[in-house]
Amino acid sequence: MKQKIHLKAPENWINDPNGFIYYKGYYHLFYQYFPYGTMWGTMHWGHAVSKDLVNWEHKGIALFPSRYEDQNGCFSGSAVEKDGKIHLFYTGVRYEAVNPENIHLYLDGKFEASQLTISSEDGFNFDNFHGKQVIIPALTDERIGDRTNTRDPKVWHGSDAWYMVLGSTGKEECGKLLFYRSEDLSNWSYVNQASKGNKLGWMWECPDYFEIGADKVLVFSPMSLIKDAKRYPDQTICTCVNFDEKSCEMEIPDTYQFIDYGMDLYAPQSTVDKEGRRVFVAWLRMPEAVDGKWIGMFCMPRVVEVKKGHIYFRLHPDLKAAFCKRIKSATEADENGYCVSLDLQEGSFISVGGYRISRENGKIVADRTKVFPNLTEYHTKFETPEIKEGTHLDIYVDKNLIEVYVNDGEYVVSNAVYNLGQEIETDLETEYTLFTTG
Ligand code: FRU
Repeated sequence: MKQKIHLKAPENWINDPNGFIYYKGYYHLFYQYFPYGTMWGTMHWGHAVSKDLVNWEHKGIALFPSRYEDQNGCFSGSAVEKDGKIHLFYTGVRYEAVNPENIHLYLDGKFEASQLTISSEDGFNFDNFHGKQVIIPALTDERIGDRTNTRDPKVWHGSDAWYMVLGSTGKEECGKLLFYRSEDLSNWSYVNQASKGNKLGWMWECPDYFEIGADKVLVFSPMSLIKDAKRYPDQTICTCVNFDEKSCEMEIPDTYQFIDYGMDLYAPQSTVDKEGRRVFVAWLRMPEAVDGKWIGMFCMPRVVEVKKGHIYFRLHPDLKAAFCKRIKSATEADENGYCVSLDLQEGSFISVGGYRISRENGKIVADRTKVFPNLTEYHTKFETPEIKEGTHLDIYVDKNLIEVYVNDGEYVVSNAVYNLGQEIETDLETEYTLFTTG
């Protein structure tokens, strides 16, 4: 099965991107996948590949439960290349109390989490029955971390060794990070941890750490970060940190940015592209399955850049280049959607098929009320912080996802949408140009 621009669940349910890597001529993008329905359940790793980050091909299931330690799911993780092989790292889950009505769910938060690895010579064939190795058994020392909520290994090569960061939780509901080191990817030793007390959510999911030049960036997804009774309390944030590799001491400041101000994106994962750029994709949480068949998709790959402490998320240039065909009306767009390019002045608005974007008090404001199911538990209005750099917007419109890049990634607002129209409305002074894929 092939898809262009946005990677979507082939059918049923997907959540986090996993194991994102450029390896032997292909971008491999694995993902959390429940193959039996349009809801979360026993996690498998689905697999898609691309030569160019634009055209994707689904390759079916790469990882599935097969061992005692991962019998109830292969949770999120990452990939690295070593000695010509691809090595995947993930969290194996074993339920201690199973929901008798649905064996794909645990009861009362009772499960145990171990960290595992599996490798492959070609990136396509994984021996689920003989190739898995437990590298960090479920934790027994509470001072290190929680035996249930410790997960999502992100592995990278530092200056002298391999490093792993895990998301975890400690006493009094403190989200935290655990750092491990290894010489060979098989033997791992615990080195250190980092936390902000109970200020930023009770559990930190999907941590990602990388360096861009001299800047050290942490991306993580604290659970229950936002306490306003609406969905989604779990949000992904990022910040520049101080990190000392030797001691794995990390200093996390109090200030942070959201990776996206539409608040639907979650659990991103980054890798380095062919040209050496730091690029990430993230899961778009969706409230309803499309045509009752599939739910969950990924945003377009975004290049991460840091300038004067601000973290930019710019659309990957190869995706930008894919929208090369000028059109006069949205009705001429192909099935991959279209891009609306414009300058939006203070007080002006544009409505794209019913999704309204305006500039108010120096901020970009998005309102999806007209193109979202009437579900009161979800937010429908979103805004960026005050914009500093200009008035330019590139709005990428797909049937179920709108991505608004403000000033080439100063901020991005992405939202799940349903039943978009094809009309574009603006006030008189706002002019725009339209592009679809070639
Ligand atoms: C984030 C997450 C991860 C976990 C996975 C399970 O969305 O909860 O922490 O590994 O999803 O599907």
